[in-house]
Amino acid sequence: MNEAASPGALGAGRSLDLSRVRTIEGIDVRGKRVLVRVDFNVPIENGLVADATRLERVLPTIARLAGAGAKVVVLSHLGRPKEGPAADTSLRPVALKMRELMPGTKVHFIGDCVGEEARRGVAALKPGEVAVLENVRFYPGEVKNDPQFAKRLAEHGDLYVGDAFSSAHRAHASIEAIADLLPAYAGLLMMAEIAALGRALENPERPVMAIVGGAKVSTKIEVLTHLVTRMDLLVVGGGMANTFLLAQGMKVGASLCEPDLVATAKDIMARAERAGCEIVLPSDVVIAKELKEGVDWRVCPVGEVPDDALILDLGPDSVDALKRRLATIRTLLWNGPFGAIETAPFGEATYALAREVARLTKAGKLVSVAGGGDTVRALNAAGAASGFTYVSTAGGAFLEWLGGHELPAVRALVRSGTRSAP
Ligand code: 3PG
Repeated sequence: MNEAASPGALGAGRSLDLSRVRTIEGIDVRGKRVLVRVDFNVPIENGLVADATRLERVLPTIARLAGAGAKVVVLSHLGRPKEGPAADTSLRPVALKMRELMPGTKVHFIGDCVGEEARRGVAALKPGEVAVLENVRFYPGEVKNDPQFAKRLAEHGDLYVGDAFSSAHRAHASIEAIADLLPAYAGLLMMAEIAALGRALENPERPVMAIVGGAKVSTKIEVLTHLVTRMDLLVVGGGMANTFLLAQGMKVGASLCEPDLVATAKDIMARAERAGCEIVLPSDVVIAKELKEGVDWRVCPVGEVPDDALILDLGPDSVDALKRRLATIRTLLWNGPFGAIETAPFGEATYALAREVARLTKAGKLVSVAGGGDTVRALNAAGAASGFTYVSTAGGAFLEWLGGHELPAVRALVRSGTRSAP
């Protein structure tokens, strides 16, 4: 059992006994139908997979099972189809991409996930082959966590492997209910995510810092409230920092902020103080009159932001101060960019700090874990992602976990392991 599966190693599952989670290491799958739930919810552009990261990250699990002689049946959702089958949320392009990524393996696409077509397709599979079934969200039973729908899916497998960590926060039929119907195991990506996130939040080498950025405090109240009880330093970035600055009596001009959440921000700061967690806010910022490429911008100390200006990024003093802080910590958790990264040059502070984190990590001075769609895009744009200790595939699940929530996928794997424990 790897180190992830130690009790309490997963933030979101603190009440869960993770030693119960069974992994696929060493199990005999020869000739068996192994149903693997992955997260192939990837961007599709012009009928092609635009970013194959999530496919690449589950490849080791699929290749391991196929290599061990399993008939691998892959389940996933794509998008949020509301009215049954739709061409733009079909998994066909994903199956074609998997074919490309697994040149030595026969990868089939089956145009349904339940019923006769799926049954026939799975029955025709030979050991070592892979079948990607059509989008499970084409059926309403999926998001309802309907046991009857889960039963129809479970017909295709002798074993179930959960490897969709980035969907672990969804109590859906192919994620939760199904794990009560078949012997359930965690895939390699699931275990790697649990280990990396557990290491950073549960048993971090201290001092430990979290960077939480993003536009709105309202979407991350739970995350911030939870983190102040666990971190030594909490850096608030992005539009959220403006609400905190406002709570400290600073003017933020016409910047994005949530005046109705000033009381919440004050409460979070008070909790942080009681818990001995230092909240770090910017000392200077980059401002402009509008958010537009090529617009005139300037640096300004916080507290001197003109009424008609927008705060769009950290200023150089804030970046330098954070670099100095980074040199003093041992573990970093990062979710959310600092500036308006989609519009140049307001991603520069995020990129500079990402590169510094990568440098310190490569030098063995820092354990760095990042997650969330915007964050990962920013790390990639900075050319820094490969320098991080771990980059999670999860967005929503990463946030739920940071907020201290139990993840249904993990709960289901623990329940299955507990049921069949000797
Ligand atoms: C994600 O991309 O975060 C997961 O695939 C979950 O997707 P959902 O938010 O549509 O459930």
